[in-house]
Amino acid sequence: MNSVPTETTVQWTDALLLDYEPMDKVHRSFVDLLARAQNAPDDELADCWSAVVDHTIRHFGREDEWMRRTAFSAADNHIIQHRVVLNVLREGLALARTGQYAAVREMAGELAAWFAKHTQSLDAALALHMRRVQADKAAATAPVQRARA
Ligand SMILES: [Fe+2]
Ligand SMILES: [Fe+2]
Repeated sequence: MNSVPTETTVQWTDALLLDYEPMDKVHRSFVDLLARAQNAPDDELADCWSAVVDHTIRHFGREDEWMRRTAFSAADNHIIQHRVVLNVLREGLALARTGQYAAVREMAGELAAWFAKHTQSLDAALALHMRRVQADKAAATAPVQRARA
């Protein structure tokens, strides 16, 4: 039987905006995919959860790469958090594939709560750092204004 989801579905809110477009874009699609998984009937849950996992691999991988490339000082803790959460999501996929839907739905609710906290703390700090890196780069490559004679 297809159970109807009872948990509140995750929803995008502008409180999640970090004013760094590459991150905001990925975060919006994460919320869309997670909402789709939360609303999926049981027989589609494994496929929808798999899409969340694949997207999260790219999402976290990209943030990890930014942190490493720009020598972000708070990188270690952030990268570890990504790894731990991704491992949990992979366990969720195994649960979904073995029909343990209630456990996956519970995980989806926890993931939504974690995501909001993570976005507003660690990702917010990274977004600020990336905006600074971009501003420094722009300043360094801007044409030098010649002093008027
Ligand atoms: Fe993120
Ligand atoms: Fe992150």
